[in-house]
Amino acid sequence: MKRYERAIVVGASSGLGRAIALHLAQAGSTVVAVARRGDRLRELADSSPGRILPLVHDVTRTEEAARAFADACTMAGGLDLIVYSAGFMPTVGATEFNTEKDLRIFAVNVLGAIAWLNQAAERFQQAGHGAIVGIGSVAGDRGRRGQPAYNASKAALHAYLEALRNRLYARGVSVATFKPGPMRTEMTAHLSLRNAMDPEVAAAKILAKAHVSGEHYLSLSHRFVFAVLRNLPSSVFRRLPV
Ligand SMILES: NC(=O)c1ccc[n+]([C@@H]2O[C@H](COP(=O)([O-])OP(=O)(O)OC[C@H]3O[C@@H](n4cnc5c(N)ncnc54)[C@H](OP(=O)(O)O)[C@@H]3O)[C@@H](O)[C@H]2O)c1
Repeated sequence: MKRYERAIVVGASSGLGRAIALHLAQAGSTVVAVARRGDRLRELADSSPGRILPLVHDVTRTEEAARAFADACTMAGGLDLIVYSAGFMPTVGATEFNTEKDLRIFAVNVLGAIAWLNQAAERFQQAGHGAIVGIGSVAGDRGRRGQPAYNASKAALHAYLEALRNRLYARGVSVATFKPGPMRTEMTAHLSLRNAMDPEVAAAKILAKAHVSGEHYLSLSHRFVFAVLRNLPSSVFRRLPV
């Protein structure tokens, strides 16, 4: 894993973001851990005194993102890596179309990401240095019947990150999109998942490639399975039980 002196992890109070913050701290980084649940963040900070610094912030308050980003950079003493891991995937009934829920998914997964990562892109562009990591999902590769807005939010995030990558590649800034499959976290605690990955394993895989621009699956089998699924015609895909 490349060493990052100073990092921000947005969505660090549980699951994948928490595991990434801990890995970074263990490797010697100073990490600003961002999320809404201050008690969880303080607990995390206590586990790595001086290495993990809590910053309470709600990413849906996009008008506060620039101030929070500036505060996080000051707390860390600069910035080399930002990871946007905040995500929201509520349960959605098979016949449910709930606009309030769907807009909230977009507020956390897309609008919050844009508000934070635009700040990082601007700072890194000026510095000619830095790594941006966005946590997408295999769920963003196709529109499935189970989670229309969540699928669409991850597809939007993937396209936004690809555009950042294309803008910043000549400026010495890397932009990596990770597409995890199922992981055992609070987000999926209500589901019975087969072959789910532990967030600690996913975090190690992500940090090993955090500086490598491009889109990354976390397993070789996903890379091949999703290459096929992405290219299946809709008329075939809609008949699959996914
Ligand atoms: N679990 C899976 O199977 C899976 C698979 C593929 C991709 N992913 C993606 O992986 C990422 C991490 O998810 P996870 O599985 O680790 O879930 P998780 O344990 O539920 O973590 C979600 C994180 O997002 C933060 N968050 C949610 N809403 C927020 C808000 N309004 N403001 C600030 N932070 C907010 C939460 O913090 P607070 O609640 O404290 O604010 C928490 O730290 C997400 O982007 C998710 O879409 C997950």
